Amino acid sequence: MKGIIFNVVEEVVHDRYGSDAWDAMLAATGLDGAYTSLGSYPDEELTALVGAACAMTKATAPEILRALGTGAMPRLHERYPVFFEAALNARAFILSLNSIIHPEVRKLYSGAGCPHFHFADQDGVLTMGYNSPRKLCHLAHGFIDGLATIFGETILVEQPRCMHDGDASCQLRLTWQ
Ligand code: HEM
Repeated sequence: MKGIIFNVVEEVVHDRYGSDAWDAMLAATGLDGAYTSLGSYPDEELTALVGAACAMTKATAPEILRALGTGAMPRLHERYPVFFEAALNARAFILSLNSIIHPEVRKLYSGAGCPHFHFADQDGVLTMGYNSPRKLCHLAHGFIDGLATIFGETILVEQPRCMHDGDASCQLRLTWQ
């Protein structure tokens, strides 16, 4: 996982849980927390940090990942406003993830393993199929929540299928309110 993700996660933890929380998570995991944005780090380090946050807050891993995703999106917006300015609305932005956003991310962050989504748009309901081995569907859910806020929209995100429940892939079902 690229260091930029750890960087924004650290910022979100500072914002939401205070300045001591990140240090406590590092102490609990034995990690040094020295992440450079362009570096690549084992996915297990993110899993360990999420586990520490669960123990500290009593929240579940899906809840923590979703909160991190929600908080991370305004941080990514701050760093890369041009990505967001190019899209008319959240739907257009999401539909450009495979073709524009994540390809641009791969140019900026060599070795980034961004997911590919399988889109289906029916009667205004947008379905995103997701089957990354990282199984970060809850992070994706949080990213969408954060994105909706940036565009001033309300999106209901449901997950009728999830790899964590034994399904072959996850499905995020987005309904605009
Ligand atoms: C709603 C919008 C977005 C969704 C749903 C989304 C989803 C995801 C997910 C689920 C991952 C985890 C990797 C995996 O599943 O294999 C990921 C990785 C990543 N995304 Fe996105 N993303 C979004 C927008 C963005 C934006 C706007 C940026 C940057 C400006 C970005 C940059 C990245 C980066 C750097 C990674 C890490 C790749 C790696 O470490 O190998 N994403 N994205």
